[in-house]
Amino acid sequence: AGFEQAVKNISNIQVVACGTSYHAARIFEFWSHKFLGINCRVDYGSEYQYQEPIKTKKTLLITISQSGETADTLSSLKFAKKTGDFISLAICNVANSSICRESTYSLLTNAGPEIGVASTKAFATQLAALNLLLLTLMRIHNRLPTARKRIVKALKETPKHINTILKQKEVYKKIAKQLFKKNSTLFLGRGLYFPIAREGALKLKELSYIHAEGYPAGEMKHGPLALIEDGMPVVVIAPRDDYYKKT
Ligand code: F6R
Repeated sequence: AGFEQAVKNISNIQVVACGTSYHAARIFEFWSHKFLGINCRVDYGSEYQYQEPIKTKKTLLITISQSGETADTLSSLKFAKKTGDFISLAICNVANSSICRESTYSLLTNAGPEIGVASTKAFATQLAALNLLLLTLMRIHNRLPTARKRIVKALKETPKHINTILKQKEVYKKIAKQLFKKNSTLFLGRGLYFPIAREGALKLKELSYIHAEGYPAGEMKHGPLALIEDGMPVVVIAPRDDYYKKT
């Protein structure tokens, strides 16, 4: 109830995160604009403090961190608390971590320990937690009841889709066989799928040491097209939505 009271009158959202958590934040930015009509700004933990802070009242400051210990995100949170009057919420996988302790509120992702170097299940659970946060804010701000029902339904169906995707092992093997000898790859997406493309590129870099770049699909014609040559793998995140044809 404390949280609901605190966020009743927010007019802005500021998110600070690094790496994969930053990509989850960039997706939330879209949701915030589309479903809440609340302006949302996202900064890298390592960049946030270089911006001259603009004093805002009623801003919800969200930090997203799997570990809850990322130095850039933590120091941004401490800096923000010194410079403004924020309502702070941590979205985090580790209870009692530094970032949770520095925040007034925390929402745990409960993914279990992240053992691999690359954040994978953390990303999925961050998006699920951000979805729950979105639904809560939509309810408190009396926004779009029909969309809310749709989001809940989609969230409930997510495990089923994840299972379908994980089952297609042969497809991934085939793609991996084509990719592993390449020097460079490109991941493209538009709108909501641009942060997903960047996350895909980050994962490939981190795990295969193959250069990968995530780019907005529509920006290719403004320069990077020069890099495309025969045989260069391009991964396009293009669900059958309104942008499909354009992409
Ligand atoms: C990518 C990865 C990193 C982390 C980043 C932030 O796979 O693991 O980019 O996402 O270092 O870490 P957390 O979320 O712990 O703050």
